[in-house]
Amino acid sequence: MQFDQTKTYKNLARSFAGESQAGMRYQLIARAAKKQGYEELANVIKTIAKNETVHARRFFEELTKRGGDCIDNIDIDAGYPFHTGDIARALKLAANDEREEHERIYSTFANDAKEEGFNDVAALFNLVANVEKRHQQVFNYLANAFETGTLYKNESPILYVCADCGYMQTATQAWDICPLCKASQGEVYLHIPYEKEKL
Ligand SMILES: [Fe+2]
Ligand SMILES: [Fe+2]
Repeated sequence: MQFDQTKTYKNLARSFAGESQAGMRYQLIARAAKKQGYEELANVIKTIAKNETVHARRFFEELTKRGGDCIDNIDIDAGYPFHTGDIARALKLAANDEREEHERIYSTFANDAKEEGFNDVAALFNLVANVEKRHQQVFNYLANAFETGTLYKNESPILYVCADCGYMQTATQAWDICPLCKASQGEVYLHIPYEKEKL
């Protein structure tokens, strides 16, 4: 079967489109967070946005490697989210989108690729799905912490570090204004738990 007649051909195109859009949506959330003074929250979201654009690049490479380096057009019949809203809501919706990606979309695409004999593409879909699972966890944590005002609070004392000047303090809550450089709380590095056992 010709590559452009396969499901994998369309799935790679859809994945490229989906990852490109996710990258842009997250840049918009990061922009809103930065505007509201959450500099470090914005940086974490920007890193995820970058991850998505790299995923898009990998799907693009796999598509053009097999489909030719000059594909004039691929008609994609697929739906894409256009989520927005305040930061807490946007983070929650982003977590849902990530769950969709790893639970449903990429697992289906990986199966299609395997059935069609594209084992390396199937492996790529699975690798990306694992990252989206981690993204879901990060967005869930951030949405919850943002909503409950616990981005900079912890039950037991932990080390807070100012990303601007490096000032450090072990406490159950970060400072409002950095005693050294006077930067706001939004400049303090975030503590995002790494729930490896759940991956
Ligand atoms: Fe991604
Ligand atoms: Fe993701």
